[in-house]
Amino acid sequence: MDTLPPFRNEPTLELRRPAARTQLTDAVASLELPVRVPVWIGEERRDGDELVSTDPGDPDRVVALAARATPGDVDAAVATAQNAFPAWASTPAADRAAALVRAAAWLRERRATLAALVLRETAKPWADADADVCEAIDFLEFYARAAVELDAGDPDLLQPPGERNELRYAPRGVCAVIAPWNFPLAIPMGMASAALATGNAVVLKPAEQAPGCGLYVAAALRTGGVPAEAIALLPGEGDAGAALARHPDVATIAFTGSGAVGLELLRTAADVPPGARQLKRIVAEMGGKNCVIVDADADLDEAVPAIVESAFGYAGQKCSAAARVLVHEALHDALVERLAGAVEGLQVGPAEDFATDVPPLIERAAQERVNRYAERAAAEGTLATAAGGRELPDGGWYCAPTVASGLPDDSDVLRDEIFGPVLAVESVRDVEEACDRVDALPVALTGGLFSRNPRTVQRVVARSPVGNLYVNRAITGAMVGRQPFGGNRLSGTGTKAGGRDYLLHFVEPRVVSENTVRHGLVV
Ligand SMILES: NC(=O)c1ccc[n+]([C@@H]2O[C@H](COP(=O)([O-])OP(=O)(O)OC[C@H]3O[C@@H](n4cnc5c(N)ncnc54)[C@H](O)[C@@H]3O)[C@@H](O)[C@H]2O)c1
Repeated sequence: MDTLPPFRNEPTLELRRPAARTQLTDAVASLELPVRVPVWIGEERRDGDELVSTDPGDPDRVVALAARATPGDVDAAVATAQNAFPAWASTPAADRAAALVRAAAWLRERRATLAALVLRETAKPWADADADVCEAIDFLEFYARAAVELDAGDPDLLQPPGERNELRYAPRGVCAVIAPWNFPLAIPMGMASAALATGNAVVLKPAEQAPGCGLYVAAALRTGGVPAEAIALLPGEGDAGAALARHPDVATIAFTGSGAVGLELLRTAADVPPGARQLKRIVAEMGGKNCVIVDADADLDEAVPAIVESAFGYAGQKCSAAARVLVHEALHDALVERLAGAVEGLQVGPAEDFATDVPPLIERAAQERVNRYAERAAAEGTLATAAGGRELPDGGWYCAPTVASGLPDDSDVLRDEIFGPVLAVESVRDVEEACDRVDALPVALTGGLFSRNPRTVQRVVARSPVGNLYVNRAITGAMVGRQPFGGNRLSGTGTKAGGRDYLLHFVEPRVVSENTVRHGLVV
């Protein structure tokens, strides 16, 4: 394979251009629904309709009908992947990379259709739906290149005379990829492509809310040239994910999702049954409670739109979304007032409306959960946004965006990951107190700071435990190759998706040291 050109991010569409909008509205109008999603193991496809995924903005619209993987399917998928593993592992890294790059090209050719499917299945507004497709392409292109570099091993080992040392990275075996719904193409593609680029075989369990998008992840990889046996698709719910993770022949679990499930999978991975020949490794990327610190010298013209975007974009359903604002007491009232004004102006509506700021939530249970927290915030503190005053569209799982302040320190609203459009604002004496509050949290995914003083920036950077800290900007929208992403503490195992180091989780290092001083050479 020719050397690949340097990585660059796939440019997102410029939605202000009428031609880009027409392309997307045509794509959603011509989307053929429902998508049929099979259990897909090697060349075997079994269709079914046990899992029904619906449009969160119009729950009567069925977006995908999926078969539900049985325990037998889990066994068959892992056995098939296990058999395919040696051949894929010994395929030259450059050829594996070429397959990923062809998968990226396949996605690129159907960008509008895929954005339309993301929009229908998960109610991501157009800009976010398009960005999801672009990120899936980015992961393929980025890991393809990074895996070829990794395959060369460590070039910096010392080589004293008479000794040759080599460190190379070998794939681990079958990787179970268990994905969430909120980046329905990008996240499963990121985990699967990292595993495949480094020579592992993959069994993908997409989120039950987004099996249609999961199908396209598997289809892109297979069309690109990953052998059918090395990438299986198992639509199903949590029980399918649990059975897959437990399977003794699964070497690596790549999981992104909630903290509760991630911790359960960590326990699964720690259980070494008698006769096991490998320790399970787990990459677990989980939730957070992301805080933005606003110091007294912050420019509110900059901070307010960035906070609103971070807290309410995709209705607060990004893992990086802002959940708490810790603002200097001198600015507290002004910031609350300005946030309330900005939030009142947000348009709550269907994802396909280009003017929508806050789309519906993913499902009824999410709507109920968010409403419960909003009611608790109203009871325990003060709502800056009119509670219940906003007319919400009919039909979908809509929630009003809410800003609350004056909550007691022990409020659940300040502690739990709500995963919806609820933002809490707290007054702090100074940046140190804000840092103390951030430090008191057991989770550490993303965080933000607005300050015009470089010394304050340095101080907060030094004290911040989060995996991704954003200074004077929105705290969502990490880009592959620019902001390697992932949380610390209980937010994750600290891997950085979209960065080079991420691939190290899917390989095991092997060192060979050879005595090159020949005594009686046998030829
Ligand atoms: N840190 C990150 O990079 C990141 C990125 C996106 C989402 N998230 C987090 O994901 C969560 C939202 O996603 P979700 O609602 O899909 O999460 P979830 O944990 O409910 O589900 C994630 C996946 O795990 C599966 N699953 C559920 N129970 C399981 C079990 N017992 N064993 C094995 N698999 C099981 C689900 O079917 C799904 O495929 C939020 O907490 C969010 O913060 C984190």
